[in-house]
Formats: sequence, C-alpha cells, structure tokens
Amino acid sequence: MEDSEKSFGNSPLLDYLSLGKSYGPYGIVGAAIVGLIIPVLLATIFVGKRKGKQRGVPVKVDGEAGYVVRNVRLPELVEVPWKGATTVAALFEQSCRKYSQDRFLGSRTLISKEIVTVSDGRKFEKLHLGDYEWQTFGQVYDRACNFASGLVKFGHNVDTRVAIFSETRAEWQIAFQGCFRQNITVVTIYASLGEEALIHSVNETQVSTLICDPKLLKKLTAISSSLETIKNVIYFEDDETEKDSSFSGSISNWKISSFSEVEKLGKVSPVPPSLPSKNGIAVIMYTSGSTGLPKGVMITHGNIVATVAAVMMVIPKLGTNDVYLAYLPLAHVFELAAESVMLAAGAAIGYGSPSTLTDTSNKIKKGTKGDASVLKPTLLTSVPAILDRVRDGVLKKVEEKGGLAKTLFNFAYKRRMAAIEGSWFGAWGLERMLWDAIVFKNVRAVLGGQIRFMLCGGAPLSGDSQRFINICMGAPIGQGYGLTETFAGAAFSEADDTSVGRIGPPLPCCYIKLVSWEEGGYMTSDKPMPRGEIVVGGFSVTDGYLNNPVKTNEVYKVDSRGMRWFYTGDIGQFHPDGCLEIIDRKKDIVKLQHGEYISLGKVEAALMLSNYVDNIMVYADPLHSYCVALVVPSHQDLEKWAQQAGIKYKDFAELCSRAETIIEVQQSLSKVAKDAKLDKFEIPAKIMLIPDPWTPESGLVTAALKIKREQIKAKFKDELKRLYE
Ligand SMILES: *[C@@H]1O[C@H](CO)[C@@H](O)[C@H](O)[C@H]1NC(C)=O
Ligand SMILES: *[C@@H]1O[C@H](CO)[C@@H](O)[C@H](O)[C@H]1NC(C)=O
Repeated sequence: MEDSEKSFGNSPLLDYLSLGKSYGPYGIVGAAIVGLIIPVLLATIFVGKRKGKQRGVPVKVDGEAGYVVRNVRLPELVEVPWKGATTVAALFEQSCRKYSQDRFLGSRTLISKEIVTVSDGRKFEKLHLGDYEWQTFGQVYDRACNFASGLVKFGHNVDTRVAIFSETRAEWQIAFQGCFRQNITVVTIYASLGEEALIHSVNETQVSTLICDPKLLKKLTAISSSLETIKNVIYFEDDETEKDSSFSGSISNWKISSFSEVEKLGKVSPVPPSLPSKNGIAVIMYTSGSTGLPKGVMITHGNIVATVAAVMMVIPKLGTNDVYLAYLPLAHVFELAAESVMLAAGAAIGYGSPSTLTDTSNKIKKGTKGDASVLKPTLLTSVPAILDRVRDGVLKKVEEKGGLAKTLFNFAYKRRMAAIEGSWFGAWGLERMLWDAIVFKNVRAVLGGQIRFMLCGGAPLSGDSQRFINICMGAPIGQGYGLTETFAGAAFSEADDTSVGRIGPPLPCCYIKLVSWEEGGYMTSDKPMPRGEIVVGGFSVTDGYLNNPVKTNEVYKVDSRGMRWFYTGDIGQFHPDGCLEIIDRKKDIVKLQHGEYISLGKVEAALMLSNYVDNIMVYADPLHSYCVALVVPSHQDLEKWAQQAGIKYKDFAELCSRAETIIEVQQSLSKVAKDAKLDKFEIPAKIMLIPDPWTPESGLVTAALKIKREQIKAKFKDELKRLYE
C-alpha cells in the first residue's frame, strides 16, 4: 500500500477526537451542575421562536415556461463584484492594488521529513512543518506579472494553452493569474484523473505548456510519448527538488524549467500585458464524466467574476480579517471559486493539504502542529463526505468514552439543538457560551478554534451532519450548490438559515427554474411545493463543452434574450421561502419491469444508514421487477460482528463472501429500509459484498466521494449479472 493519501476519503479530521481530554472528573461534575441548572432556569424565563424569512422570490421571465426564482436581494442579477472587475485579470489587478500591503498567500516551510516504518513493513512519510510564510497581495501581483512575461519569452501567446496539473498550493494561484495577464486560457486537470483522461485532455486542448508539481512530473515522464503537443514543462520547486536527477531536462523533446526560472526570465525582460475580455475563455476545466472520457467545460472570465460577486454578497462580513485554509483540489470548481472569492475580498489564503490538516493527520510528525492549528483559519471549505465522517468519528469517540463524558456531551448537544431549532431562544447566548466552554471547545481546537463560517459543496449534506457541525464547530454552514457548468454558482444556503437539508435560494448572479419532468412524475404544479428538473440561467452559466456541440446543445439552451440556461439533471423542489431542496437525480431513476420508478440515489441514501455500509451502489435492471446492490462493508463493524458471532475467517475478503455475512448485512439493510419507509421493490433482493473500498484513485468515486455509477457498473459487470441470475 502506498503511503500517500491524496483523497479526502480518509479524512484527517477524523483523527482529531481529543474530546474530553482537557477536563478531569471534577471538572465534568462541576460543569454539569452549572451547565444543567442555570440554563434550564434561564430558558424557562425566555421562550421565543424565530420567524421564517423570505430568501428567494418567484419571477416571471419573458417567454420562459417553468417556475423561476431569483434571490430576494436584488431585482436584477449581479454580474461583477464591483465596477470594472469584468475579468479575473482585472479583479486580480484591482484587488492587489487595493490590498497591496495585506497578506495574501501563505505556505508552510518544511523543517524536516522522515520515513517511518511500521511493524508490518509499510512506510509512512512524516513531516515537521513550520510556520506560515506570507506574501502580500503586492508581492503576488509582481510574481504573477513576472511569470506572465516569462511565459511570453517561452513563446506563448493567446493561441497556445497552458495546463496546470498539480495539487493545491500558492504557486498554482500565481501561475493561474499569470496566464490571464497574457490572455492565455488555462486547462485544469484533476491530479487524480487517470492517465488516459490526462492524455485526452492535453491532446484535445492542444496544450503546449504543462505546469506541474515534481511528484506528478515523474508520472508524466512515463507517458511523455503520448503527450505530443507539449513543448514546455514547468515544475513547482519543492525543498528537495534540487537533489533529484530526473529534472535535468532529459526527456526528449520537452524543455523542462522550474517555476522560479520562468519568473526570473520574466523579471529581467518584462513584457506588457495583453489582457483578456469578459467573454474570453479563462479556464477549460475537465470534469470526470459519468461515462467515458472527461469533458472540458469552457468557463469564461465573466462566469468567474459573476459567481464571485454573488458569493461575496451572501457570506456575511468577508474581508481582510478573514483567514481561509485552502486544501481541497484547485482543479475542482468549488475550491477555485472559493479562492477567487478570497482574492476579491482581500482575505488571506493559507495553503494546507488533506493529509496535514490537523495535529493528528497521517503525515504530521507526532508532537508537531497540523495546518489548522498553526493557521487558525476563520473560513474553511469542506465536502459532505468529510463532514459525515467527522460526525461519525466524534460520536464513536463519545461512545467509547462512555460515562459522564457521554452523558454530558449528549445533554449539551440536545440543548444546543433545541436552541438552534428555536424553542429555547431566549437563553441561547449564555447557555451557548457555557456549552462551548465545557464541551465543544476541544472539538473546535482541532480546526484552530477560530472558524466562523464553513462552506460546503460537492454534494448534498445530510441534515444530521449539518446540525452536528453547527453545534460542535459553532459555525454556520453555507451549502453551495453549483456544478462546473455553472462555475459553482447556482444556489447557496445563508448563514442565518438554521434549517437543514436545503441548499438555499438562488445566488444573486442567476435564476433557478424548475421544469416539469412528466415521465419521472415531478411537476411544477405539484402541491405543496413545485417540483421539477433544476435549470440554472444567468451570468455564471458557462459556454459549454469543448469540441462537443452535441452534448452542449443537449444540456445548454439560450433564450430569446441571449441568456444561457443549464439543465442540471437534478430534481428539486422550492420551499415557500424560496429555498431549494434537491430531491432526486434524473439519470438515477429507473423504470422497473412493472412500471414502478426506483430512485437509486434515494434508496442508497437510506441504506447508507446501516452501520455495515461504507459505500453502496444500487442497480436496477429495467427488465426485472427488483433491484440489487453492491455493498462496500465497513471493516470495523463487520469484523466486530464476526467476532461476536464467533465466526472464524481467513481474511476480510473471505468473510465478505460467506453466506451468513451476506444475510447479516441484508437484514440490516431491510431494517433501515423499513425505517425509511421504502417500498418492497426498493429493497435490494440480492446483494454482494465488495471487500476493497472505493477510492478516488480507483476511479470508482469522485474526489468528493460520490459514486461513479458508470465506472462501478463497468468494473463489476459480471458481478451484477450474477446477482440477477
Ligand atoms: C489527439 O487528437 C487527434 C485528433 O485531434 C487524434 O487523431 C490523435 O490520435 C490524438 N492523440 C492521442 C495521443 O490521443
Ligand atoms: C483573448 O484571446 C482570445 C482567444 O483566446 C481572443 O478571441 C480575444 O480577442 C483576446 N482578447 C483580447 C482583449 O485580446
């Protein structure tokens, strides 16, 4: 097994669990008394209930069928964060001028690195990282300009493209901004995409310069003969790159230079900028398609600044006092949008990584500090899969501790829950301070203790996890709904909205429309809420897929006023306050043999609640009247069961293949299915247990850990066939 853990599947946040460590038994009893009695007394004096607030309003858009809603703030859509910031290049230049002396990009220095070998022979890399070193907006601007000039010296012009193939880091952002100074389109590629996808993306966009980190450069050399269009490779230096001989420029026709060489070249021979225009393509972003090769989404400068403008309006008090911890992949639209917002707001961005995030993360040397404890961020982005695991991890730890600590945690949690839901509103402030001090402070310290707002995107977050984070982290979550095709900008839940399971009103840069989908049974005339396919229209809607007019015309439509609409394939419903809730996905609905519709996503979400299930894919063959499922079981829970049941087994794979194991898991599935009131045809009639976890590296789940149905179907083709025999 490899030591690196690039995915956020194995969240370092999980390891944090120091809950209860810093208070002794007396502390708990004392705190419990104060904590139980005072607030209960106070709460009985003040009882209040919050009122619903209108967040989105229906509008009539000329000639448009369907139910259209806009953000309540403005009658017109916003297009730019401020006058003149019509492109990313202009936004960058103006922000850098305005905040020139403020800190902008920070990275940690490497103090030492060691390889430790654990008892079974596996090797792990452990890092001792130092403080953040900061560059101001002014310094970053100069570096981006130098890099841009260097690129021109390399022979770049508007007709050539640059691809960035690297993990998230400060130089990524500098290179990105540098390209725009010369109106060069940037191609972004997921570092975890497979070779075939990489070759395809580079070839399709005719990339001539590839910017990458040294680790990925090694991978590239292996496939250099397939990357025909590439002439230059620029690599970001690491502290140890110098020592490595593979960077000597030995690969046949590639000119290999370091990032700082290009900067130096530009510095000594500056070139005047050649700035892009609003409708120019800023980024071609490759997203993993559900089938076959990835698709390149063409994102304009106007799309990016529109989403930035809208998000700035809805996150309260964004500004130079904010510190943002950047660790999700920048090749993902969600992180790129978030960092663009920070740039516009003058906030500081400190770079980290999923494997160094907290003190107990797997690459952090014991006794040294993780990114969050050093940076003490005020803002953080996350994806539901991470937050779900954090929640499970905390609960497990609380359970293990048992006794008073558990009682206290559960009580505090219930009290905070009641407060948030409004029934104890009066004594909220004081009681909240109390619980925070006694119970939740330890949980928060793991992320530096200063988080004031969390952004969450990539997939819908469960209500339970949202509440849990609200309470344990003491911060509201802004859930963003947006796809690469709408540059992350579609809907966003607001900080003061305490409801769960919804994704907020449309962002002020776009309209959201529901369109009836008769076949699936979702209609805008449905009561009590209009339902239908979610369609996004406005300034954040991108130009479509590169070299793929057929697919583009299928999902993008232009109305008579020239406004672009993107058909998401998601099914939603609008609540009376103008907030959207996602309830289904069009392509995940299958019509069974006898005409019943089965929503695979809905069934999977329900079955995930079984503690034996780590991941699951439900499959329905339209030629049959029932569904089946592939289940990746939780090692821990299944092994625990086997132990208790006295079952002897050779290894985990063998345990998974046993009839009694399958029966046990299936019974658990039936139980959670009944709890969720699923119909009989929605309960998998047969299942198979898959011993190996689905990771982003295996290509079976996305980086946000959503299952990739087509890929899983292809890989387990034979297994699925057998389940229907
Ligand atoms: C690159 O694309 C061209 C068509 O544009 C195709 O003929 C060629 O086979 C592709 N090369 C690779 C390595 O995929
Ligand atoms: C920027 O480049 C594009 C081609 O990628 C070109 O169409 C556009 O005119 C250029 N913009 C300016 C302002 O030169």
